[in-house]
Amino acid sequence: MGYTDKYERDAYGIVAFWLRNNLEHGQFFDREISHHELELARANQSMVQSLGGIWQRAEAKQGDLGILINESSQAISEFRNFLIGGMNKALHCELIVSTQVALMDHMIREAEESQKVFNLIQSGSQVFVADAVIHESTFWLRQMADHLAFVQHYLDTSNYELQDRVRRMTQKFERFLLQANALRTIVRKPRTEMLPVLNAFRQMIIREAKDLEAFKLELDTLIKQCAAITTAPPDLLEHLAREAHHLWRNLEEGIIT
Ligand SMILES: [Fe+2]
Ligand SMILES: [Fe+2]
Repeated sequence: MGYTDKYERDAYGIVAFWLRNNLEHGQFFDREISHHELELARANQSMVQSLGGIWQRAEAKQGDLGILINESSQAISEFRNFLIGGMNKALHCELIVSTQVALMDHMIREAEESQKVFNLIQSGSQVFVADAVIHESTFWLRQMADHLAFVQHYLDTSNYELQDRVRRMTQKFERFLLQANALRTIVRKPRTEMLPVLNAFRQMIIREAKDLEAFKLELDTLIKQCAAITTAPPDLLEHLAREAHHLWRNLEEGIIT
């Protein structure tokens, strides 16, 4: 599992995780922009270049962390605004791309979550474990359910068995998301203690996210061997596996990163 070997969880590693996340979104989006949209494609490419440059510095742990976070924040915020502009055009039927609006919104939410995490790192503020579990679950379970829906969208219709498997997993993660949303209001602030019911939920999601990560890697191998018919970008499943990994690690540690 090459991608977890390089996954570091110090401050530089977390900044690198988010930069790479946004960078790959730009690379995936690049494949789906019609040749009728040259201006959009060029703007996207320049975002990819700038995110890529900062990501390499973060990976190499070069330079002052504060400056790196400010630059990352700036580049990701530009990318977020660019995607919001694209989504707005798509909603007015003025854009020719094969990326669906739900996926643009998904990428925008991840860009916004990066900003939240950067603010937390910079402020150094402490978050209660129960708050972290509620936050990570409500944010990431929606992303996990989306991932499965997107995987199904990319999978060729002729993969009947795989389609069915992915659909059932999507529905399971949608139920987890409903449960996380319910717990968000059931477990009221200040969340100074970890209630047994929240802890049981956390343990279940850790197990399920680990299984989901393994499934995504299994499918990643099939796609890379060209053994599953799909229109998914080659590295998409690895990207999704990395996000599932990030979720269960954060839940285990009871932190927001
Ligand atoms: Fe992502
Ligand atoms: Fe995602």
